[in-house]
Amino acid sequence: MAAKVPARLCLGFKMSHRIAYHPIAVFDSGVGGLSVLKEIHTLLPAEKLIYFADHAYMPYGCKREDAVKARCLQLGRFFASLPVKAIVVACNTATAVAVRDLRAALQVPIIGMEPALKPAVGHSRGGVVGVLATSGTVASRKFQQLKASFAKDSELLVQPCPGLVEQIESGHLESAETLQMLKVFLEPLLTKGVDTLVLGCSHYPLLLPMIRKVVGDEMAVVDTGDALARQLRYQLHQRQTLAPLVQAGVIRFMSSMQGREQLISSLWGEAVSVEFIDMSTAWDEGFPTP
Ligand code: DGL
Repeated sequence: MAAKVPARLCLGFKMSHRIAYHPIAVFDSGVGGLSVLKEIHTLLPAEKLIYFADHAYMPYGCKREDAVKARCLQLGRFFASLPVKAIVVACNTATAVAVRDLRAALQVPIIGMEPALKPAVGHSRGGVVGVLATSGTVASRKFQQLKASFAKDSELLVQPCPGLVEQIESGHLESAETLQMLKVFLEPLLTKGVDTLVLGCSHYPLLLPMIRKVVGDEMAVVDTGDALARQLRYQLHQRQTLAPLVQAGVIRFMSSMQGREQLISSLWGEAVSVEFIDMSTAWDEGFPTP
């Protein structure tokens, strides 16, 4: 005789089974989160993903904390209304200032990212670690706490990089001006003996070839994209909401500003269409389900 399964458990299983087919929202102020999206798509190829670039509000890194927080909450409510089964904050700045409020306001799991200080400190032989991040991340309480917990036995040289995100968003990934900016940010760190460099902004991995030109091939360069993808997989697994591996997942690209198709396509490596979402109205008025 078949064992009797309590109705509550059946219901729970059916719910998570249905949720498994929902998409995951991944957002950043712009194209930076594409570096994270790549890691997620590689690790979880069956997942439906929505990438949202908040170009209308970019950059986050030099805005007031409460403004970024309010914007992230607005985006979070929009994603939850689609609905999605998880929200990935593919932005260090937004995570630093808004992840706690997002978790408090929304039922859906929120996965954030923070500069990889712990692995960098563990890796550094000379104990001198450089960190590149936005001014917003560096000024945040969360970053100060992170520094206090992981950097006790190492020298941490933190370098805010104003203007770098804007260079990337303008498509100047390989320009002489971008290289010059990187030299200004990185050379003082090199002089002080940094042997491990943390890319504490999701935009910066897009500049890795240029960063290598300045720091050379020996420097260990660490970012958080793959760790975030693994954390996402773990969270979905725990909730039994991983998409079944029966077909390839699709990716839907969105931006809060028109005309971003070319940049997103060139960084993603193939022509994609980008839906314009007017964040001043669209999420309130109902939105076609993915
Ligand atoms: N990509 C974001 C981060 O990881 C910040 C970009 C911005 O300043 O808008 O911090």
